Amino acid sequence: MKIFKAKDYKDMSRKAANIISAQIIMKPGCVLGLATGSSPIGTYQQLIEWYEKGDLDFAEVKSVNLDEYKGLSRDNDQSYYYFMNHNLFKHVNINLDNTYIPDGTAKDSAAECDRYNKVIQSLGGVDLQLLGLGHNGHIGFNEPGQAFEKETHLVELAESTIEANSRLFENPDDVPRYAYTMGIKNIMQARKIVVIISGEEKAEIVKEAFFGPVTPQVPASILQMHNDVTIICDEAALSKVD
Ligand code: F6R
Repeated sequence: MKIFKAKDYKDMSRKAANIISAQIIMKPGCVLGLATGSSPIGTYQQLIEWYEKGDLDFAEVKSVNLDEYKGLSRDNDQSYYYFMNHNLFKHVNINLDNTYIPDGTAKDSAAECDRYNKVIQSLGGVDLQLLGLGHNGHIGFNEPGQAFEKETHLVELAESTIEANSRLFENPDDVPRYAYTMGIKNIMQARKIVVIISGEEKAEIVKEAFFGPVTPQVPASILQMHNDVTIICDEAALSKVD
């Protein structure tokens, strides 16, 4: 596990974008595992900037997203499909047919989870997985207490996650209660993992996840067992680590 201290959110985003760029340059047809939320927006902006300058080419890149809310359609502006289009896909030359996100409107949840696992497998697995860290230690939507060996599954979101995400919804009652998420097993199978974390409100969980014991109560702690993890924190997120 390598931990890098970035000055601030912008510096964290640049560092993460540099690693992703290197991955795309080394393997133009790589499979990127992507995240949504506040943490990766700056990273995506930096990638878009380099694409616009002509330094990056997404033509052969494939992507699989970590998660999607159950019940939201692709055109709902709170869906993760919408987020990815808005924050990255529509600004670069990625082929949308090569981008994969669980289908929030699928009628049969078990079949959807199975389909998504098969998609990841058929792509040959994830080369580089980008992750954010939830306040409760979740990665993807793998909430505290879940088994480490799960693959893509439907999860009931923790109250604290619903509360954290309600900032993005007009009406807090609209926050979906369930989401599809890659499981810890899928995440741990990625060949390389990059975690980006910003802000003092994440400082306590950074300490617990990466400097405490490995436990399902802090899902991100399992990353300590992966052989190629790069954690990029800004100074505030690292402020509780001596
Ligand atoms: C998003 C995801 C979540 C977030 C986490 C942190 O696809 O899987 O695990 O990465 O909730 O969210 P932010 O970045 O908004 O603090």
